[in-house]
Amino acid sequence: MPNQENTQLAAHTARRTFAIISHPDAGKTTLTEQLLLHGGAIHIAGEVKARGNNRRHAQSDWMEMERKRGISIASSVMTFEHDGVVFNLLDTPGHEDFSEDTYRTLTAVDSVIMVLDAAKGIETQTRKLFEVCRLRDIPIITFINKVDREGRDPFDLLEEIEKKLALDVCAMNWPVGMGQEFLGCYQLVQKRFISFSGDEPESAKQKEKLAEDLSLLEAFSKPFDMKSYLEGHLTPVFFGSALREFGVVELLAALHLYAPGPRTQKANLRTISPEEKKVTGFVFKIQANMDPNHRDRIAFVRICSGEFRRGMKLKHVRTGKIFSVQSPVFFLARERSLVEEAWPGDIIGIPNHGTLCIGDTLTEGEELHFSGIPSFAPEILCRVRLDDPMRGKHLRKALEDLSEEGVSQLFKPLIGSSWLVGVVGRLQLDVLMARMEGEYRIKVGFESAPYEGARWIYSEDELELKRFIDQNRNQVAEDLNGCPVYLTGDDWSFRYLQEKWPKIAFHKTREQFIRI
Ligand code: G4P
Repeated sequence: MPNQENTQLAAHTARRTFAIISHPDAGKTTLTEQLLLHGGAIHIAGEVKARGNNRRHAQSDWMEMERKRGISIASSVMTFEHDGVVFNLLDTPGHEDFSEDTYRTLTAVDSVIMVLDAAKGIETQTRKLFEVCRLRDIPIITFINKVDREGRDPFDLLEEIEKKLALDVCAMNWPVGMGQEFLGCYQLVQKRFISFSGDEPESAKQKEKLAEDLSLLEAFSKPFDMKSYLEGHLTPVFFGSALREFGVVELLAALHLYAPGPRTQKANLRTISPEEKKVTGFVFKIQANMDPNHRDRIAFVRICSGEFRRGMKLKHVRTGKIFSVQSPVFFLARERSLVEEAWPGDIIGIPNHGTLCIGDTLTEGEELHFSGIPSFAPEILCRVRLDDPMRGKHLRKALEDLSEEGVSQLFKPLIGSSWLVGVVGRLQLDVLMARMEGEYRIKVGFESAPYEGARWIYSEDELELKRFIDQNRNQVAEDLNGCPVYLTGDDWSFRYLQEKWPKIAFHKTREQFIRI
């Protein structure tokens, strides 16, 4: 937990708030577990919950569905302290159907570890997540995992990163052999390979191979340059194996040494420096019913500036209400502890009954909104079918709760009585169905709706917007915040419509704080 003796300035530099991005199966869960283990947050790697009978599963996954499917669906936050630095690890779901959740999580981090599978290299999903990081100027450390297995040539992987992601690469260590030949990873120290135990390579064959690799590397790998890394032009690359614990300690050390502390955050009126005295923060995630023992709704807040203390009064800018934060919590997977104080970069959970929404800003009084926390237009729209009509009243409440959490989006067409549920990927529908049944005892099904997608509609000219809505009532709905949304048909008719209404803007994303 945060070091109570830190001065405010020292505390700033002692936070590393980061996420791990990867394609499913690249080893994110295993690496998370190893980082927690080496960071001292858990004691044995087996101190994890069972996936099946005796298969391991990292502590960060908590939902029943995650347990059954072995995938990480919702992001969670884990805080641990190592060598005087507090690490806040924000877990992200690797599956692309939950990319919205991941995107929002990336608004709350200062750096990222990108995990690649040595056999597969950069997969599409990883590339998309990388682009998000690039857009947000988030520096990246790369971990090429599973080098203990038969994989691609290490040079080939470096070249792929350089070419596909237009990034300079700096090899921080080097694997000797791959697959059955795997002997370990050697650190690169002043143009020499030193084994992790501090020894030089042993056998003559090893020495020869490493000398050969070193000469090739000199042409390939750029020297480490902090500025270039922080600006997102260079990525330090570690080869390793999360499963066999190669490269993990070095990765943790690199996070400590190189990864940036809390960044300056953009808001609508100005930018906010972490060194400002007054507390500001924003909600990037809502999660309800995380634990059957704590049936509550938690808003995850990233502290952006100031020194937060339990019990302090904060302004909820969207509603203008002042509330006192009495029982904020820190997380370690399923465990949680009361927060007495928190610093910029920290993530605190605030239990609440629906007051706090994704994108909300908290301050000590200033009227400002953090920006860059968007909602994404859904790609799949469905009507909700209720199996037991007696549960109609509860249905609306459950759908509203879950869409506030970002599990799905909810739209109310202007004509007709049924609700539309919008998701980016089909797996979200499975989660919605499972949670409706598990947490609200409501059985629902989904029927496809005759729309291709949705766009938020705006116009500077309010009369024109009203005219548009009136003339297209059968294809307009409102989102949960009352913002108008156009439900699109096929590409051709949508293009035609856009040409016909040039003063109407059709947006694929909506900033969360904009509410009508
Ligand atoms: P994810 O969260 O990115 O989806 O990946 P996860 O950690 O669950 O790892 C996916 C699979 O890859 C797991 O195997 C895991 O044990 C394996 N793995 C992770 N890191 C390494 C590594 O460094 N070397 C090797 N050889 N394998 C690794 P699984 O068969 O799906 O599950 P399990 O039976 O091992 O639990």
